Amino acid sequence: MNTFYGKSHILHDVGMEVRAGEVTALLGRNGAGKSSTFKSIMGLAPTASGTVRFDGKLISGLTPEQIARAGIGLVPQGRRLFPGLTVAENLRLGGLSRGGGKAARAPNTGGNASGAGVHWDQERIFSYFPRIRDKLGTNADLLSGGEQQMVAIARALSGNVKLLMLDEPFEGLAPAVVEEVFKSLDQLRGEIAILVIEHDLDLVLALADRAYVLDRGHVSHTGPAEPLLRDIEFRKQVLWM
Ligand SMILES: Nc1ncnc2c1ncn2[C@@H]1O[C@H](COP(=O)(O)OP(=O)(O)OP(=O)(O)O)[C@@H](O)[C@H]1O
Ligand SMILES: [Mg+2]
Repeated sequence: MNTFYGKSHILHDVGMEVRAGEVTALLGRNGAGKSSTFKSIMGLAPTASGTVRFDGKLISGLTPEQIARAGIGLVPQGRRLFPGLTVAENLRLGGLSRGGGKAARAPNTGGNASGAGVHWDQERIFSYFPRIRDKLGTNADLLSGGEQQMVAIARALSGNVKLLMLDEPFEGLAPAVVEEVFKSLDQLRGEIAILVIEHDLDLVLALADRAYVLDRGHVSHTGPAEPLLRDIEFRKQVLWM
């Protein structure tokens, strides 16, 4: 992908592959182009050249709504629930954007049926984020930061999602809540593909199977997460930290 904001060339031939059933980390310094990569995949910052394929279909050139409906859920940086709406209303809007909200429940209870994907109805989502169930009638503004993040993830899952993209999901959360969100994401592993941006390397590398590093809009490293987690010297070479 090549992406511009006006005349600024932000993403330079960025190529990546996100595999079903895996957690892929997208790493890099502030301003490297990580959020822009998500926006380009999602059609929010359309690519000037290059192609994005999802589940065998060409999605570059589609609108963000069409891309969401194809099965990609985005949790943007800073969460952003709809203020003034309850948790239940926030979840319903997520489902609507994918046309999956109140559709017939898939009989499938486990595994990832190819093609149809997993239908994320409320019960299924509550099994990963049990705290949300008690908060359905609560105004989203009144939730704690951790609860808001769980609702934001749940909202992105509503419908027929096969790829979940999380932009700094642990940012600003207390350690105990980080652990809770981490566990939920760890349970989701294998159910769907996850692409995650995160600056806390110990955390994200523990979650990820593979990692991409962006440096000023170029992919500077690709490989398994494990060596970056264990070998601090290698990590310094690849990530300057
Ligand atoms: N809408 C925009 N218009 C112009 N420039 C932008 C816009 N959004 C981002 N940029 C610029 O594009 C570059 C990449 O930004 P991006 O948000 O993708 O970085 P990032 O890797 O997500 O950084 P961070 O870790 O700080 O979130 C930065 O130089 C940023 O200033
Ligand atoms: Mg960002």
